Amino acid sequence: NYEKLWLVLAMVMIIGFISTVVYGATAVGIEMVNDEGGTIDSTALEEDDRFAEPRVERVGDNEYEAYVVARQFIFEPDPIEIPANSTLTFYVTSPDVIHGFEVVGTNANAMVIPGEVTELTVELNEPGEYGILCNEYCGGGHHTMEGKLIVQ
Ligand code: CUA
Repeated sequence: NYEKLWLVLAMVMIIGFISTVVYGATAVGIEMVNDEGGTIDSTALEEDDRFAEPRVERVGDNEYEAYVVARQFIFEPDPIEIPANSTLTFYVTSPDVIHGFEVVGTNANAMVIPGEVTELTVELNEPGEYGILCNEYCGGGHHTMEGKLIVQ
């Protein structure tokens, strides 16, 4: 009996339609949480001594280490200051989303991934100021995310 068949088909289509809508809404919800960022690995980061207090440390003659946190939409510490004729190693991490870390005018240019540490070393002989830029889109304030490296 065809009437019954059509009724069943209609029901199947309605259920299919509803689950598509629900699935779509769920997917959008997940995306919004990701855009909010903020919570990914931030506890682990706060418990990590190296990044609990972003800073520059002298580790030897003309050798420095900078522990940098890249977050929406700043770099910490800012500015980073070291003397000329130094080797500087950056350890950079992010508590929220993927950022970029580029020291303009040097070979330092890398991606910063939440919960991971990116390591970069540069030799800085001449005094001067270098811009630090985020070159990965990281949200509404991406274009304002910049810092400074001062070599004295
Ligand atoms: Cu951080 Cu773009």
